[in-house]
Amino acid sequence: MSSIGENGADFLVVANRLPVDLERLDDGTQRWKHSPGGLVSALEPFLRAHSGAWIGWPGIADAEVEAFEEDGLQLHPVTLSAAEVRDYYEGFSNGTLWPLYHDVVAPPAFHRRWWNAYVRVNQRFADVTAKVAAQGATVWVQDYQLQLVPAMLRELRPDLRIGFFLHIPFPPVELFMQLPWRTEIIRGLLGADLVGFHRPGGAQNFLWLARRLVGLEPSRGAVGVRTRPGVVQVGDRTVRVGAFPISIDSAGLDALARSKDVQQHARQIRDDLGNPKKILLGVDRLDYTKGIDVRLRALYELIADGRVDPTEVTMIQLATPSRERVDHYKQMRGEIEQAVGRINGEFSTVGHPVVHYLHQSVDRRELTAFMTAADVMVVTPVRDGMNLVCKEYVASRYDLGGALVLSEFAGAAAELTSAFLVNPHDLDGVKNALEAALTLDPAEGRRRMRALRRQVLTHDVDRWARSFLDALGTQSTV
Ligand code: ADP
Ligand code: G6P
Repeated sequence: MSSIGENGADFLVVANRLPVDLERLDDGTQRWKHSPGGLVSALEPFLRAHSGAWIGWPGIADAEVEAFEEDGLQLHPVTLSAAEVRDYYEGFSNGTLWPLYHDVVAPPAFHRRWWNAYVRVNQRFADVTAKVAAQGATVWVQDYQLQLVPAMLRELRPDLRIGFFLHIPFPPVELFMQLPWRTEIIRGLLGADLVGFHRPGGAQNFLWLARRLVGLEPSRGAVGVRTRPGVVQVGDRTVRVGAFPISIDSAGLDALARSKDVQQHARQIRDDLGNPKKILLGVDRLDYTKGIDVRLRALYELIADGRVDPTEVTMIQLATPSRERVDHYKQMRGEIEQAVGRINGEFSTVGHPVVHYLHQSVDRRELTAFMTAADVMVVTPVRDGMNLVCKEYVASRYDLGGALVLSEFAGAAAELTSAFLVNPHDLDGVKNALEAALTLDPAEGRRRMRALRRQVLTHDVDRWARSFLDALGTQSTV
């Protein structure tokens, strides 16, 4: 893959966010910090290894920043005004699409002003990309914020090879049909040469909608995982539609977990907690889809029932601040903090809180130490496209220790079948799984972890990106 020359870049990622966010400090200075979320976690190692160009928003309103190079990666900032952040990002992306695509676990709001901003901002991303891309370049558009970009970009630059990947679930057709702008979204995505989802079900839903809303004749065969993509003819173009489950830099995390530094830090964490018998860990963006409330409720009841001794079990919940101005997020934060307060108020002793709740982001090294220290990783989303946290936990447990409790409604559940799989809507089921994981026989635990690791170490982010780009037909150039 080459870098940007006078003739433009020939491999570009287009995502709502750059991999780094601009932060304005109180003293008037500014600095770049790592962006949150799974999209950046997954794509950044791949892009850095292949010196591509990344087009995205720097994370704050009205930031006029020139393109720059960082660690071999070309970054092209796209400016959003405060009104666009409100209407396109907080509004249509995170107040309409995010809840709609996550099974309407919160009610989506439909506002024409939000939609108009979404169209305008998608056009801006397409315009910037059209300027930066070299003749015949490969452009990989990412996620729900930019679903109109493929068609807009094709209009401007028919010479480009365009891929699109959706990092969140693609909803059941009955839910998608609620969207007033449903046909525009499907037409936008059909501008790509390859449209990718995590699961075959998402691809299947999209193909159905292409027939129903655009009147096309898609293939009818079952879509496989990384194989047998669906095919739909759009004029003289063939669009492929496939399933490509995303993953992590498994070997990198495995190596990091083995480092003396991380091992030492993990011991320190246990010491700092007063060496409890068992540590439960949750790691999420503070998002209402993640089921943080579910695990807190389960823990509360297990203690109240006398099935878990609060002097022996400690829970750590790391929650990255996220989308803090969006209403559902504000409300959920209050509820979660209240639930933490309730458990600690009723069951803690002085100096030994049952739940340690950090509304903070921690760096990769520290996160790996927390995962190394944790006996049970609790991942209970009510809906999640993939969920990388559970894969990160598995990759960091080279000692075959620990246990994973995982929601069936995370995309990862299809791959991580040796986890304790739970239905997050079934509180008794979650409680039973937590108890089973806390009292797991070590030999059984090793057997499960070995099977989980076999999956995660052989299916890493590089394999994900390669399988997508091969299907896009860029094997020889990227
Ligand atoms: P999402 O993309 O919805 O946020 P994922 O589980 O797919 O969910 O990805 C989340 C990413 O963010 C993972 O790489 C995870 O390690 C990271 N992350 C989540 N919470 C924290 C935190 N408190 N501190 C540091 N990293 C975090
Ligand atoms: C998920 C989405 C990403 C998003 C990330 C963080 O991973 O799929 O597109 O970037 O969450 O959310 P934010 O709104 O902070 O970018």
